Amino acid sequence: MVRTRLSSIKKGRAKLPRNLTAIRLLHKEEICELLDSSADFKARVIDGKAIPSLGKKVVGMLFFENSTRTRVSFEQAAHYLGLKTANFSAAGSSMSKGETLKDTILTLRYERLDALVMRHRASGSATLAARYFNGPVLNAGDGQHEHPTQALGDALTILERKGSLDGLTVSIVGDVEHSRVARSNAWLLSKMGAEVRFVGPRTLVPTPQHIGMLPGEVFHDLQSGIQGADVIICLRLQKERMQEGMLSSIGEYAKLYQINRDTLRYAKPDCVVMHPGPINRGVELDDAAADSERSAITAQIENGIFVRMAALNWVFGENDMGPRAVETPDKSAKKAVKAK
Ligand code: NCD
Repeated sequence: MVRTRLSSIKKGRAKLPRNLTAIRLLHKEEICELLDSSADFKARVIDGKAIPSLGKKVVGMLFFENSTRTRVSFEQAAHYLGLKTANFSAAGSSMSKGETLKDTILTLRYERLDALVMRHRASGSATLAARYFNGPVLNAGDGQHEHPTQALGDALTILERKGSLDGLTVSIVGDVEHSRVARSNAWLLSKMGAEVRFVGPRTLVPTPQHIGMLPGEVFHDLQSGIQGADVIICLRLQKERMQEGMLSSIGEYAKLYQINRDTLRYAKPDCVVMHPGPINRGVELDDAAADSERSAITAQIENGIFVRMAALNWVFGENDMGPRAVETPDKSAKKAVKAK
C-alpha cells in the first residue's frame, strides 16, 4: 500500500524544468514568444482584464546582491499571477553561517519551493542553481554574465518606440566589461537582427580577444560609437566590480563618454535614450538626457513587471525543449567582434 503511494509521488515529479538563465541559450522563436506574452500581460494589466492565475505555487526570491527594480518587479509580477513569494538574502539565510550556495539551493528544493528567482555576485551561479534545484530557475543577474529579464524589458521598450528590432543600430555605452545587462542585451538584440555597438574606454570595453563570441563592434570614441544610433543604452560605472586603476577619474569619464544634449547630436534625432538603472546622474548621462522625451528609462522600469510575468509564466509552462541551463556554443552568433 505504502509502496504504491510512494511510486505515484515519484511519477508526479517527472516533468522537465524550464529555466531562464541566459538569453544566449534562447532561440529567436523563444524570445519572440516571451516578448509577445509580455505585451499581452501588459495590455491585460493596463486594461484591468483577467490574468490567468498560476495557482498555489511559491517562488523563492534569493537576492544575494542589492536590487530595487528587479526585485520589486519580480514581486509585482508574481503578485499579478497569483503566486506567493518567499524572500531570502545572504545576511538572513544560513549562508551567513557558512553554508555553500549548493547546499542552500538543495535546501530550498527539498523545502518544495516551486521556482527560484536568484541574483548572485558569481557569474554562472544561476546555472549552478538550476542544476541543484532541478528548475525552474530565473536568473535575476549573475555576476558579469547575464541578466535576461532586463534585456527582455529593454527589448519590449524599444519595440514600443520603434516597432521592430530588426535593422536598428543600438549603441551600448559605458562599463561593458562588468555589465551583465550589456551581455544579455547584445545577445538578444543581435539575435533579433539589430546592429550592436559597444562604446567606452579601453579599460571598460573588453578587447576583441577578450570579449569572446559576444556579438558587436567595439568603439573607443563616443562620437563614432553613437553616430547614427537609433538607441543608446547607457551603463552605470560598476565600481563594486572594478579593480584599481580602471578609471583615471569619474570627471574624465563623464567628459569623454557622457550622454547629454551636446553628444546626443551625433545620434539620430529620434534616438531613444535608455539606462537599466540605478543612474549616476551627471556621470553616464545628464538631467537633460535622462528626463527628456527621448528617454525611455521610466518605461524600462514599468516593462520590467510585464516581462517578468511572461518569464514566470514561461518557466511554468509546457516544455518541449528540455532544460536550458546548460551552456552550449551558440550558432546564431554571426558576427565576431571587430575593433574600430
Ligand atoms: C543592473 C544590474 O543589477 O545588473 N540593474 C538592474 O538590474 N536594473 C545594472 C547595474 O547595476 O548597473
